[in-house]
Amino acid sequence: MSVTSIPVLTIDGPSASGKGTVAERVARALGFHFLDSGALYRLTALSAMKHGVSLDDETRVAELAATLPAAFREGAVWLADEDVTDAIRAEAVGEGASKVAALPAVRAALFDRQRAYRQAPGLVADGRDMGTVIFPDAAAKVFLTASAEARAERRYKQLIEKGNSASLPALVADMQARDARDTARAVAPLKPAPDALLLDTTQMDIESAVQAVLAHYALCQARNK
Ligand code: C5P
Repeated sequence: MSVTSIPVLTIDGPSASGKGTVAERVARALGFHFLDSGALYRLTALSAMKHGVSLDDETRVAELAATLPAAFREGAVWLADEDVTDAIRAEAVGEGASKVAALPAVRAALFDRQRAYRQAPGLVADGRDMGTVIFPDAAAKVFLTASAEARAERRYKQLIEKGNSASLPALVADMQARDARDTARAVAPLKPAPDALLLDTTQMDIESAVQAVLAHYALCQARNK
């Protein structure tokens, strides 16, 4: 099987649109590998913070990204010999990820690493530019959205469930600021691929979103035959 014949399903969208959960479940349903590309940007930001490297030092952050000792094992995320599954989900690391993701050299450093996840029998790739930049030839593409308010509410519930304190208005503002940065950046801005299915999940639960994505994938497969 040549690499380009290995099917890829891309799921892009803004933060807290539910795409991580949807992508993981879809990958499980199809028996495909799963790439959480946001985790690579989060790991890069965390690594810079740990090494005392400024998040706007493009050359040094890109060096860290190129040599990231990252591993994904049994649902856990590792940076060298440290389990950083929870650490990379901290709001500060998400903020940092969004900053380093705007640096072209960092994106270039992660390009090949992301493409290497394309392995048989197939891949579900979750991110911002999976369908536009990393896998433009994907078999099926989905762009998942939800209103900033709905996304902030989802994040709010997650934080409260974990025993953290949170402010809903502050979360809406953070969400809008991150969207603005991801959408306005010069390289690989957050935008749907022209051939992506737009799925607004504001009024949808996770299971309905999973079913809609699976149906879209089946349709694309049938069309390509
Ligand atoms: O998806 P997640 O919230 O984990 O991503 C963290 C940050 O990484 C995003 O805010 C975005 O700036 C960046 N990112 C990106 N391209 C991707 C995935 C994530 O720029 N493919």
